[in-house]
Amino acid sequence: MNQPAQALLAQMPQLQPGHVWLAGAGPGDPGLLTLHALSGLQQADAIVHDALVDPRILGLGNPDAERIFAGKRGGKPSMEQADITATLVVLARAGRRVLRLKGGDPYVFGRGGEEVLVLAEQGIPFRVIPGITAGIGGLAAALIPATLRGVNQAVVFATGHGAEDGEHIAGSVDWQGLARLGQPIVIYMAITHVAAITRELLAGGLAANTPAAVIQSASTPKQRVLVSTLAALPADFAASGLGTPALIVVGGIVTMRERLLQLLPELAEAAVWRAP
Ligand SMILES: C[S@@+](CC[C@H](N)C(=O)[O-])C[C@H]1O[C@@H](n2cnc3c(N)ncnc32)[C@H](O)[C@@H]1O
Repeated sequence: MNQPAQALLAQMPQLQPGHVWLAGAGPGDPGLLTLHALSGLQQADAIVHDALVDPRILGLGNPDAERIFAGKRGGKPSMEQADITATLVVLARAGRRVLRLKGGDPYVFGRGGEEVLVLAEQGIPFRVIPGITAGIGGLAAALIPATLRGVNQAVVFATGHGAEDGEHIAGSVDWQGLARLGQPIVIYMAITHVAAITRELLAGGLAANTPAAVIQSASTPKQRVLVSTLAALPADFAASGLGTPALIVVGGIVTMRERLLQLLPELAEAAVWRAP
C-alpha cells in the first residue's frame, strides 16, 4: 500500500472502545470492501460476522480480534436475531471495539435497522458503513446493468423471503403489483420460491418471454449465471443445479449480458476476480 493510501487509512475515524460499527462487506469479492470497513476490521477487537462474509475479508482483521460467527443460513443452526443484538450490547458494554460485519449492505435486507435500533435504545454509540449490496454488485459481476437507458427508469429490489409455494403467496410482497410497474425486479432470498414468484409475476401481466436470470454466488469464484425467460425460469433453474446464495433478476436489463458476451466472450471470466 503506498503512502497516500496508508495516510488515508490512518486519518479515518477511530473505532472507540464501547462503540459498534455496523459494516457491509459487499457481495463476496474482497475487492468490493470499502476503506471504512477495512479500517474497522483493522481496529476492532471483536468481529461479529455473518455467513456470507468471505474468509479472506475476515483475514484482513486484527489477528488478535475475537471472531464471533452470527450467521443465519437456511436449514443450519443459527444464532437468533435477539442473541446477535444481545451479543453486540454485551461486547460494547465490556468496552470492546466491535465490528458487526454483514454481507452486502447492512441496511438492505440485512436487519441492520433492527440492530442499530437496539444499540440506540441501549445508549451504545454506533456507526453504519454501507456496503455494496448484492443487487448492485452481483448484477455488475453478471454483466447486467441495474439501469439501462431506454430500457428502465426504475429498478425494484424485493425479497422472496416469506413467499409460499401455494395458491397465494404469503408475506407482504404484492408480486402482481410489482409486475404491473413494468420495471426490472431484483429478488433476494427467492430461490425456494422461484416457481410461485414466477407464476405471480406472469399473473401480474409480465410476458412469458420477459428475460430472467439467476445469479448464484455473484462476484465469487463460485459465480454461476443462468439466463432464461420468465416462463421457463422454474424448469431451467431446476435443471441448472444452481444453488444459494442467489438473486433472481427479471426484466429487459438481463439481455445486456448476452449482448456483451457475444461481443467479448472473455468477459465471462474477467467479471469475477479469482485470486491466484
Ligand atoms: C439476508 S440477504 C442479505 C442481503 C445483503 N444485506 C445485501 O445487501 O446484499 C441474503 C440474500 O442476498 C443475496 N445475496 C447475497 N450475496 C449474494 C451473492 N454473492 N450472490 C447472489 N446473491 C447474493 C441472496 O439472495 C441471499 O439469499
